[in-house]
Amino acid sequence: RRIQPEPFRIKMVEPVSIPDKAQREEALKRGHFNLFGLRSEDVYIDLLTDSGTGAMSKQQWAALMRGDEAYAGATSFYALKEAVKDILGFDYVIPCHQGRAAENVTFGALVKPGDRIPFNMPFDTTRAHIFNVGAEPVDCVIDEAYDPAKYHPFKGNVDIAKLEKAIQTYGVERIPLIMVTITNNSGGGQPVSLANLREVRKVADKYGIPLFLDAARMAENAYFIKTREEACKDMSVAEILKACMDCADAITVSAKKDPLVNIGGLVCTRTEDLYYKILPRVILFEGFATYGGLAGRDLECLAQGLREMVQEDYLSHRIAQVAYLGDLLDEAGVPFVKPTGGHAIFIDAAAFLPHIPQKYYPADVLGVEVYREGAVRGIGLGALAFATEDEATGEIVYPKLELFRLAINRRTYTNSHMEYVAETIINVYKRRDSIRYGLKVDFAPAAKGLHHFLAHLSPV
Ligand code: F0G
Repeated sequence: RRIQPEPFRIKMVEPVSIPDKAQREEALKRGHFNLFGLRSEDVYIDLLTDSGTGAMSKQQWAALMRGDEAYAGATSFYALKEAVKDILGFDYVIPCHQGRAAENVTFGALVKPGDRIPFNMPFDTTRAHIFNVGAEPVDCVIDEAYDPAKYHPFKGNVDIAKLEKAIQTYGVERIPLIMVTITNNSGGGQPVSLANLREVRKVADKYGIPLFLDAARMAENAYFIKTREEACKDMSVAEILKACMDCADAITVSAKKDPLVNIGGLVCTRTEDLYYKILPRVILFEGFATYGGLAGRDLECLAQGLREMVQEDYLSHRIAQVAYLGDLLDEAGVPFVKPTGGHAIFIDAAAFLPHIPQKYYPADVLGVEVYREGAVRGIGLGALAFATEDEATGEIVYPKLELFRLAINRRTYTNSHMEYVAETIINVYKRRDSIRYGLKVDFAPAAKGLHHFLAHLSPV
């Protein structure tokens, strides 16, 4: 079947409506042509992010009532610890308020100025956190990741030769950890194979460098492994996920993605030594060790969400829903990163609007046009988010990919919403040649790697 029916029914509805054209124009002006500047009521279908925007299950809402709000040693913390042990296999658990908080405490404890962190690719806030401690990420993803049209089952894989080269170039003493993002968000929500994770593990062992996973979308990654990695086809998603986790010394997690909560994050470590290295910063920035900036009820919902994220009927529908949107766009010839990612469609804005030079932010122009067309909100992930200035020459270094992302919220929108989104995008695609403007930055606060969130833009 091309359309997989939803494995849930709707118990509570949240009314949404389509603002008319005049309202949309007004909203764009008010928001300075930056989609982060729109208000929720300005939007009909909000695909800005899949982060914290999913619907909780009735079991999660029930768990919320069990929340124990004790400052230290809450029952809810132990429920979370047990779920982490069962689902992920780690003994040491640090709750944090979200993913970047997990990164802040981890990088702050382990990374020093001048360090390099080899990655497949980091996401924008992860990258900004590495800059924030005076270090830099080194992208070691396979070359296929940079070719949106090219099919590769594991386009998020680390190129082992690039990883070895990075270690040799910068030296073990400047590499406090290796990190692999599963799935690779910046590269199109593309998975990393279990075989690749095991190879990265071997390299980590060879040089004695800890391996961390940025595991925000670890269940979707495991589902792709089950469906695409021959050696794993008879394993359950839960078994595959455990096997992936077994490769890592520690993970940082934005629980707002696969773990199905509206707020929350985790650092999980294999050893007590690593746990105690990170923990003091948690107390400084997040809260005591057993709540880390979350309410007890959040910990309960997260414990339940971790168990739900590996349910195969849920995952199968989720991945199929994203693929359905991809199929509809593909039939109309809309260029996007192939194969479709786990959490989102990443439209290739450079191919969609080839007449707009990258310095005029085609991904963000596309975002404005898609909003204008159908009050659908996505997000540009191109030059505006990822261009950097070469410190030596002052030259702008543009990213290799210029993408516009439509992130699908978990358990939130129906397949017919996907049809509406496809129609909106296809309408813009049909009139693409008439889109003859770019965007320029009128104002942006000085903040390396973060200005796209706050920039004021205008058409030129
Ligand atoms: N790592 C990855 C791979 C992410 O995609 C994100 C967030 C983070 C870390 C940070 O987590 O938001 O909980 O602090 N990505 C969101 C997105 C915001 O839209 O893709 P956070």
